[in-house]
Amino acid sequence: MTILVTGGAGFIGSNFVLDWLRQCDEPVINLDALTYAGNLENLASLQGDARHVFVKGDIGDRALVDSLLAQHRPRALVHFAAESHVDRSIHGPGAFMKTNVEGTFTLLEAARAYWSTLEGDAKAGFRFHHVSTDEVYGSLKPTDPPFAETNAYEPNSPYSASKAASDHLVRAWHHTYGLPVVTTNCSNNYGPYHFPEKLIPLMIVNALAGKPLPVYGDGQQIRDWLYVTDHCSGIRAVLAGGTPGETYNIGGWNEKANIDIVKTVCALLDELKPSAEGPYARLITYVKDRPGHDRRYAIDARKIERELGWRPAETFETGIRKTVQWYLDHPDWVARVQSGAYRDWLDKQYG
Ligand code: NAD
Ligand code: TYD
Repeated sequence: MTILVTGGAGFIGSNFVLDWLRQCDEPVINLDALTYAGNLENLASLQGDARHVFVKGDIGDRALVDSLLAQHRPRALVHFAAESHVDRSIHGPGAFMKTNVEGTFTLLEAARAYWSTLEGDAKAGFRFHHVSTDEVYGSLKPTDPPFAETNAYEPNSPYSASKAASDHLVRAWHHTYGLPVVTTNCSNNYGPYHFPEKLIPLMIVNALAGKPLPVYGDGQQIRDWLYVTDHCSGIRAVLAGGTPGETYNIGGWNEKANIDIVKTVCALLDELKPSAEGPYARLITYVKDRPGHDRRYAIDARKIERELGWRPAETFETGIRKTVQWYLDHPDWVARVQSGAYRDWLDKQYG
């Protein structure tokens, strides 16, 4: 048996592949276009490991996807590949439509054609697992209950709109063609190999470099943070036991305001790598808010717990400590991802 993973060189995908092969010996075919967000160095520990086959390519390349499905005959496709950064989607939404919408459409069509050739248990057991986000549900008011799977879709950014569109395609391919799909909508992840354009790794690497820590608006926006290996175990649970056609929300039961996240990162760095210049919180700088900035996300993760017995293993305190320590232990990884292209992005976004 084999699984095909897309986007397995990105932040969550690479954590998933590493975690999968720590848990079992089932081979992984990893299709990734290696955009700015894809990094084979995340998978360096798998070099020479026959259980991992990396293929550089685009999910929008139908002939390539067809040939991978025909050659490896996977029992499941786990779809992570996406453009994933809200701020980039504001500057340039085109790539989000291409990969997240058209790319998902191409994968669904390829999967449908392959699945229609399967028979018996192989056909019934096949899964198209679509990895999505809580951002499709829009923004919560302070007293609203957290997002349940039954909430209406109200995406507000080009990123979340493109993910919402892909979720709708996945749903339709199940209802119209019977393709056995499952979708997971997860809250904000953090942990090792997180590209330092996102809040937590950006704050860690900027603090260590003595640079400003840019907090958008009033810093009171709330996210529900989940340690990345908990997301991976949630995906494994849904892949193994989820009902085709169903969606499952995955979250950390951990709502925190951005400013509190930044202060926690600063305090951990003060403890683990004190700066001669004084506390890192001195670098906190309030900057112009993100246009259309969603105020609050929070996940009601009771369905996945009730039906599949999944709960996060890490608390925020254990997860954020591990994360800060990981960045301190991997200065070479950090230095290499801060390439010219990364610096161009910082100039464009932060001036
Ligand atoms: P990421 O940006 O770190 O990685 C995306 C990966 O997809 C990269 O390796 C990139 O090279 C690859 N990719 C992009 N376009 C491609 C294409 N056309 N063909 C093949 N590969 C392509 O993203 P991430 O944070 O790891 O997110 C993975 C998935 O999880 C995404 O679908 C995202 O929407 C979803 N998600 C992310 C979060 C989060 O907090 N990061 C939360 C919930 C859901
Ligand atoms: P981000 O990591 O981009 O994830 P998302 O927008 O998908 O939730 O941002 C998390 C939160 O942190 C979001 O409310 C925006 C905020 N933020 C900042 O305040 N400053 C920054 O430099 C970045 C990148 C994000």
